[in-house]
Amino acid sequence: PRPVILDGDPGHDDAINILLAHAAPELEVLGVSTTYGNVGLERTTRNALVTLELIGSSTPVYPGADRPLLVPRLSAESVHGQTGLDGPLLPAPSRAAEHLHAALFMVQAIRERPHQVTLLPTGPLTNVALALRLAPDIAPLIREIVWMGGSLDVGNWTPAAEFNALCDPHAAAIVFGSGVRVTMFGLNATHQAIATPERIAPFRALGRTGEVVAGLLEFFAEHHRERYGWNGGPLHDPLTSAYLIAPQLFEVQPMYVTVDTTDGPSAGRTNCDQWHVTGQQPNANVAMTVDADGFYALLTERMAQL
Ligand code: BDR
Ligand code: CA
Repeated sequence: PRPVILDGDPGHDDAINILLAHAAPELEVLGVSTTYGNVGLERTTRNALVTLELIGSSTPVYPGADRPLLVPRLSAESVHGQTGLDGPLLPAPSRAAEHLHAALFMVQAIRERPHQVTLLPTGPLTNVALALRLAPDIAPLIREIVWMGGSLDVGNWTPAAEFNALCDPHAAAIVFGSGVRVTMFGLNATHQAIATPERIAPFRALGRTGEVVAGLLEFFAEHHRERYGWNGGPLHDPLTSAYLIAPQLFEVQPMYVTVDTTDGPSAGRTNCDQWHVTGQQPNANVAMTVDADGFYALLTERMAQL
């Protein structure tokens, strides 16, 4: 199995990503690390523990950054509720998080397994950027970074920027400038994976974990119905694990990506050079198409195994 670190800000879709990765014999989850993001760090860390509790997993949880590198902290209670995981009834965690900082955990894990570890960040990139700054030697030792964030086209938090990118544009710029192979699942891809009522219904038949997944997706859908008029919410974060499990469901295109770190209306925008007009070497694979039915079939099949 491919060793991975799940770094995120659970979050409904982050939580489902944690579940999917744990249902994948193709992946070995070395740890779950947390960052501020959808809600504050204390809550995202608790939510990671809650999610693991649900499936009886003892995967260690490493809390990391509680704020961005430079800009003021944002949060997304409007999407994920006050707890960050509003909706279904969830168990209380029976254990605590680790004391090691997320960035230090990444450095340690990557050095222990050179060229093997894939990072799956599904929140702001602060922890990953901190790891790269603390230990620049790890950059060539990281197998790949598969990030949910950014967008080839429009944003969702400003007209230009996606939430995870906007939370910490400087961290994102560090990651895209690191020389590590980055695969980016931006909104242009994730908005193809809408959790419609027809796609949610099968989870209800899968027992406790399936019920929770359905409850999370229904809560998430409400916001997207009101705000966008969509028939459900886009299941952003789990596309990262799904890509490692079933890459045939996706099309990615190599291109040169930079992040706007200026303090204007385009702050946090990921500029994706789709037509290679800059003449720069591609530094990322940008996800372009998602076989959404295939993805939901995979997710349903895997949730049935938990
Ligand atoms: C991203 O922002 C968060 O609210 C979600 O968890 C996802 O990672 C989508 O813009
Ligand atoms: Ca997230």
